[in-house]
Amino acid sequence: MRVARADRIRATIEVPPDKSISHRALIFNAIADGPATIERILDSEDVRSTARCLEALGVPVDWPPGSPVARVSGQGLHGLFESEEVLDCGNSGTTMRLLTGLLAGHPLLSILTGDDSLRSRPMARVIGPLRQMGAHIHARTGDTLAPVVIKGGGLHGADYQSPVASAQVKSALLLAGLYAEGRTAVTEPLPSRDHTERMLQAMGAPIRRDGTAVSIEAAAAPLHPISLRVPGDISSAAPWLVLGACHPDAEIVLEGVNVNETRTGLLDILAAMGASIELMEQRQSGGEPVADILVRSSALRSTTVSGGLVPRAIDELPLVALLGCFAEGETIVRDAQELRAKESDRVEAVVDVLTRMGAPITAHPDGFAIHGPVSLRGARVDGRGDHRIGMLGAIAGNLATGETRIENDAVGVSYPDFWEHLAQATGSGMITA
Ligand code: S3P
Repeated sequence: MRVARADRIRATIEVPPDKSISHRALIFNAIADGPATIERILDSEDVRSTARCLEALGVPVDWPPGSPVARVSGQGLHGLFESEEVLDCGNSGTTMRLLTGLLAGHPLLSILTGDDSLRSRPMARVIGPLRQMGAHIHARTGDTLAPVVIKGGGLHGADYQSPVASAQVKSALLLAGLYAEGRTAVTEPLPSRDHTERMLQAMGAPIRRDGTAVSIEAAAAPLHPISLRVPGDISSAAPWLVLGACHPDAEIVLEGVNVNETRTGLLDILAAMGASIELMEQRQSGGEPVADILVRSSALRSTTVSGGLVPRAIDELPLVALLGCFAEGETIVRDAQELRAKESDRVEAVVDVLTRMGAPITAHPDGFAIHGPVSLRGARVDGRGDHRIGMLGAIAGNLATGETRIENDAVGVSYPDFWEHLAQATGSGMITA
């Protein structure tokens, strides 16, 4: 795709439904005791991967192509069937890690695989603790990389101190914990997104939270199905928040954004950088806090992002580098080595995109540093098949002189309408395939 700068941006965007919540609504309802309706589910490649895997495990999912509504016929806690096929998780780490935890609890043989990117992402972080719970799991390259082979069942609880703040690891272990004898506890170094805890609690699962620890007991009673309307994804609001703050003449309203505080690190970063951001009409939807967000052109100053802010903004950190290009001073992201284990090595990818566009950015083992302000120039950039990098390239291109060409954008993984929304926000003449 080719992108050029728009002179003026005025837009109201209903951001797409939350990806994390859409996956969880499908997976948890698959083991509930009856049918559930998920309204405004995210129709993207990742969530479709989850739905297809569940269908292969014998769960009817009525979700016609293009429909914003999915109906899941929950099969109860012990109603999954052994899949006749290898389960293909596509590009989706959430699908693979959560299903690995769930299937470790089932006395079935399951094989999970994914695309080139997913087959190179770390799986030992879930395989190790699930083995401690008694699961028989094997994987490629010393049990670290997918395909993953699981012979589940016969689990016992464990008290696991996770070395990484990862909602995928936490969720995988909690799902396994539903099937384990005794209590399973997971403690994280810093809090990660808590959608699993909220949803399982609402379904009646015996789950307890205590600071950064979460524990679950084996499910003694069936889980209640949960019908919900999925709120907007703050990770998909992020490109617009950053475009609005950096562009010299912008005003963008983002409607229905999930503002769960385990996800709002970017809002705190924007506030620290002096951005003009307003939260309006705060309300609840699908067991989560939701607001409309207004962002306007802003004079930005640099900031340092580290510690507890990192998991609260993990998928937005590539865009923080772009904010750094428009901020006075040195913007630093550290403690973010997890960026190297995402759909691409996001430290390398961010530094590559912004360097090509003329930014003075340096990679560090656990993040990057950038001196601003800098005037970006259009370039040919590689999204590396990573949706967050594709969107970074598109937004950066909209803030640069000349034309930017984005290859391998992969936006369909989380935001199929991204290009259409960008065209609406900036004037359709600015974007060409
Ligand atoms: C996700 C958790 C995060 C995030 C990913 C979605 C989830 O990954 O980066 O996009 O839905 O649980 P980690 O749990 O590995 O940090």
